[in-house]
Formats: sequence, C-alpha cells, structure tokens
Amino acid sequence: MASRTFAIDIGTDSIKIYRKGTGLIYFQKTVLAEKNKKKVIAVGNDAYEIFGKAPDKIEVTFPLKNGVIASINSMQSLINCVFLDLSKEYGKIKNPRIYIAVSADITDIEKKAFYDIMDGCFVRPKSIIMIDKPVADAIGCGIDFYDTKGSMIVDIGAETTEISVVSAGTLVLSKLFKFGGHDIDEAIINTIRRKFNILIGLKTAEQTKRKTVALDNSERECKLYGRDVVSGLPRECKVDSAVFRDNVIEQVNPVVDAIKSVLERTPPEISADIYRNGVVITGGTSKIPGIADLIEDGIGLKIKTVVEPTDSVINGLSAVAEGRITL
Ligand SMILES: Nc1ncnc2c1ncn2[C@@H]1O[C@H](COP(=O)(O)OP(=O)(O)OP(=O)(O)O)[C@@H](O)[C@H]1O
Ligand SMILES: [Mg+2]
Repeated sequence: MASRTFAIDIGTDSIKIYRKGTGLIYFQKTVLAEKNKKKVIAVGNDAYEIFGKAPDKIEVTFPLKNGVIASINSMQSLINCVFLDLSKEYGKIKNPRIYIAVSADITDIEKKAFYDIMDGCFVRPKSIIMIDKPVADAIGCGIDFYDTKGSMIVDIGAETTEISVVSAGTLVLSKLFKFGGHDIDEAIINTIRRKFNILIGLKTAEQTKRKTVALDNSERECKLYGRDVVSGLPRECKVDSAVFRDNVIEQVNPVVDAIKSVLERTPPEISADIYRNGVVITGGTSKIPGIADLIEDGIGLKIKTVVEPTDSVINGLSAVAEGRITL
C-alpha cells in the first residue's frame, strides 16, 4: 500500500511534495487562478501559464508573499486542489502524516497559519509535523546535522533569503531577508523599459533571467518580445548578460551585508568552524552563474554550492520522512 506520509515545502515560487517510498510527486508554481473570486479554474503551472493573459474575471494569485501566507483562503484552495489532483493520480489520500517546512525567522502566528492550512485540508491529516526550513535545508545540502561543527546555509529563493547557522543538531541562528529571484525579475522589467522602451511581463522577465543573467564574465544572449511603450505595438529586442549585470550585482550586495551581520552574531567557536568549512548556498537563485563568487568575494569565506538547489529543503524533509534521520 502506498505510504500516507508526505513532506511538503511551500515556497513562494513553487510547491514541492514528496511521498514516502515514492519520491518527488509534485513540483509546480505556487499559483492559483480563480473565476469571479469563487471558482478555481487552474492551479500550479497551469495557473502560471495564464498569468498576465487572463481576462478581468479571472484572478491569478500568488498566495505566499515573502515566505508567509498572504491569503489564507487562496492558500487553502490551492492546497486542497493540489491534494485533489494527487488523489486522482495516485489514489485516494486520507489521514496523511505531513511533514512541512516553515521558515524559522517568522512569527508564531505566521507559522501557525501553515499548520492551519494543512489541518483544514479535506484529506484530514492525522498528524502535522512542522520542521524549521533551515534544518531541512542543512540535511538536504548534505551537512552532517548532528556534527558538533557549525555550518552556515544561505538559501536564496524567490522572495526570501534565509541565512542560518546550525550546529550539533540544533538551529543556532536564522535571519529571513527579503530578497530573491522575483526581485531580479522586477529589475529586468525596469531595465528593459528604461533601456529599450519595451514593456514586458513577469513571465518573460523570469525566462530572460534564466537565459541571460550571469554575474561572472560569461556572455549569454536571448531575444524577447514585449510592447513598445511609445507605439503600443509588439516589438522584439535582443539582450545579453551585460545589460543586467551591474543592476543585479547591486541587488545581491545587501545579501552579502546580511550574511556578514549574521556572522557577527555567531558564537566565536562556531565562527571558527564556518571559517574552516565555508558557507553553503542553495535555493533556486543560487543557480545564477557567478553569484557564488560574488558572495565569496564579499564575505571573504569559501562558498560551496549544491547540485540541485531548488530541492534542498524537500530533500531534507524527505530524509526525515523516510526515517533516514531522526530529529
Ligand atoms: N537556472 C536558474 N537561473 C536563475 N534563476 C533561477 C534558475 N532556476 C530557478 N531560478 C529562480 O529561483 C527561484 C525559485 O527558487 P526556489 O524554488 O528555491 O524558491 P522558493 O522555495 O519557491 O521560494 P522561497 O524560498 O523564497 O519562498 C525563482 O525566482 C526562479 O526564477
Ligand atoms: Mg524555498
């Protein structure tokens, strides 16, 4: 019989769900599309697909903002729809045991909102176990969590950067900083408008980022399409890495300052471990070429990257769900 144990990482950009014994069964955008604010017409990647194209009657929302739930109702609908889809694909899901990752540096009320959403889901969970995201991240990044040596993890996601220190199986410090890939997407929209007089949407900006943004010396280019600000007509333009580089570097500099401020608050013995072992960066935005070197130069400590940075939290949660690690 398929397991009733699930692990869930609800990110601002995407929801990742792992089922014990099966693997990663869901990885889609955290987006909901509703008609007349009542009827859900699409969730996940399908909802993201109509984002920016939908008529007035259809509202496309991102229920998570800066790592916290911005709309309880939308998030509840989204989670119900996701479990409904999963039930159709994998058979009825009833009274599951759910492991869910929540940011450490948010209020208890904000944490409880995640619990309540799971508790209110039609699958009626038997138990909900909340795990600090940095703990899941550390495990997912391959850090020996019970090692007495301290480690620092910096998760740069879509709207948040979570900077954390773990040591000897405990979370020592955590700071949630409001920066992520969505900020870079916004900056791309502004740059294209200013330099080329073309208006583009968020989706085009995200694709452009993945294709061109590089903070090292690599040169990548792509074509994009938008609306000419003056003529109002559709137009094409070609952009390359150099167009965005300075602007994105400027956005990453505050992350360097935030890491330094966490290092300043880190107990000296753990600082010494971090000095020797370096800092691990993860999260989807850490895939930007050159971002690791930029942070390394800024903080003066060695930076280590991980192979699948968007999956580190869900990989850590799945290790707990599978019983490979006990917390
Ligand atoms: N190859 C890539 N190059 C640049 N950015 C990328 C790449 N792949 C993913 N991203 C960006 O990473 C972000 C998503 O990362 P991730 O899945 O870690 O975020 P999240 O967990 O949903 O968000 P958060 O942790 O902030 O709540 C998006 O902004 C996405 O555009
Ligand atoms: Mg995340």
